[in-house]
Amino acid sequence: MEARTGNFAFYLIFTACLLNVSLQGEHQRRLYQELMKNYNSLERPVFNDSHSLTVYFSFSLMQIMDVDEKNQVFTANIWLQLYWQDYYLQWNASAYPGVSSVRFPDSLIWKPDILMYNSADERFDATFHTNVLINSSGHCQYLPPGIFKSTCYIDVRWFPFDVQRCDLKFGSWTYGGWSLDLQMLEADLTGYIPNGEWDLVEVPGRRNEKFYDCCKEPYPDVTFTVVMRRRTLYYGLNLLIPCVLISTLALLVFLLPADSGEKISLGITVLLSLTVFMLLVAEIMPATSDSVPLIAQYFATTMVIVGLSVIATVLVLQYHHHDPDGGKMPKWTRVVLLNWCAWFMRMKRPGEDRVRPACHNKRPRGSISSVELNASTGPPQYANGNMLYIGFRRMESVSHTNTPDSGVICGRLLAAGEEDLPLPGSQSSATASGDPDLAKILEEVRYIARRFREHDEEESVCNEWKFAASVIDRLCLMAFSVFTILCTIGILMSAPNFVEAISKDFFT
Ligand SMILES: *[C@@H]1O[C@H](CO)[C@@H](O)[C@H](O)[C@H]1NC(C)=O
Ligand SMILES: *[C@@H]1O[C@H](CO)[C@@H](O)[C@H](O)[C@H]1NC(C)=O
Ligand SMILES: *[C@@H]1O[C@H](CO)[C@@H](O)[C@H](O)[C@H]1NC(C)=O
Repeated sequence: MEARTGNFAFYLIFTACLLNVSLQGEHQRRLYQELMKNYNSLERPVFNDSHSLTVYFSFSLMQIMDVDEKNQVFTANIWLQLYWQDYYLQWNASAYPGVSSVRFPDSLIWKPDILMYNSADERFDATFHTNVLINSSGHCQYLPPGIFKSTCYIDVRWFPFDVQRCDLKFGSWTYGGWSLDLQMLEADLTGYIPNGEWDLVEVPGRRNEKFYDCCKEPYPDVTFTVVMRRRTLYYGLNLLIPCVLISTLALLVFLLPADSGEKISLGITVLLSLTVFMLLVAEIMPATSDSVPLIAQYFATTMVIVGLSVIATVLVLQYHHHDPDGGKMPKWTRVVLLNWCAWFMRMKRPGEDRVRPACHNKRPRGSISSVELNASTGPPQYANGNMLYIGFRRMESVSHTNTPDSGVICGRLLAAGEEDLPLPGSQSSATASGDPDLAKILEEVRYIARRFREHDEEESVCNEWKFAASVIDRLCLMAFSVFTILCTIGILMSAPNFVEAISKDFFT
């Protein structure tokens, strides 16, 4: 910047020299001598000291250079425009032919001490002091350019769909309104160079008069407001779309099978990547608690959703891998989850509609136990092998329709029975060798039946828990999908100029 200013100064001096050379002549020399003869640069150039001097003020905005949200500083390249009438710098144009205007360095003549009140520059006055151009009727034109840094309250509430208004307040530092009447001209935007991050909306200006306690004199100032709209494409592509995608990924946690063992890690990964994006946002935003930026709100909500989904996943996994010895499901949980929720989700228990083989087992088993009961209680039949044989026959017939493994076991049982037991035809041997062996076999059969029943019961308890887990999964998927969609639409759409920003930045 230093170098650029230097170049500019050099250019001006060079131009001034050129002008001096080309316009060098006795009239001009005479005119400068004439004008400077009694001139005092401290003197306010008015005909009557009780009159006020009117200064017309305007600026041309050349470029928006930076909007620093964190430090609340707005930087722009601006050329000030100051016009006033110098009573002592008038001359008779026909007496000095060829000299229509003269230029003075600003230090040699009086000039208004207009400053930007809300400057954030190190030197406070950031203007480059150029020459003042004066024509023969004493009309002065002073156009100091500068890189102006102004303090600007940047409200990031609707970031990245925000519109910022930065005030630039100009006024005389020492003169009151009675001696220097500041008047406003419209801001000039013809030389404006478009900015990649900001769309310039308008630059309205207004003239204010402020009264202080000390005096009755008004203190006028001119305030221009640079209204600009942030272009959303960059932040949309780099922050919003990833966030929406990541939060959609969080929903996949509920689709992942519990047996894969990846549910929790997916949830945690999503949570971490959201945190990374949130840090990126936090780096841009000012550390203010005045208002939470829209995007931070969105990120926070998404993080809460993802966090909740991790918690829900833990619950799902706890249900899925529930220890069958841990007991059966509480009654109300069963009613709510397995009946109502499953009905609501239109979920069917696996094998609910087809008749399960286990149900077939029930009756024959019952008959076996009744055989056992008969065998154990009824003393007359106790020694009778026929009864037991009928029991085994039934079991055999069952084993044909039964699941293969139980069939094998039954077959083995039968085989074992046939080995140990004498054939049913030879009743005498059965009764003879019967009592201890039969009792043993009965014991075995009872044991096996019990084990089967226990195993089936365990399995059905397990399946119940697993089904409950999948119901919760589905329930969470629905609830979180709805919640995510509502949050995304609700939060992003709440920005006042959301539709305008999207339509202008994304579809043009
Ligand atoms: C200067 O202006 C004031 C008020 O307008 C007037 O009273 C005074 O006579 C003027 N003086 C001269 C020298 O014109
Ligand atoms: C301006 O100068 C010309 C030529 O010297 C003279 O004729 C004319 O009267 C002057 N006008 C005024 C207003 O002094
Ligand atoms: C001096 O400049 C002002 C403003 O541009 C203009 O109104 C005035 O006519 C000019 N005077 C001469 C003698 O050109």
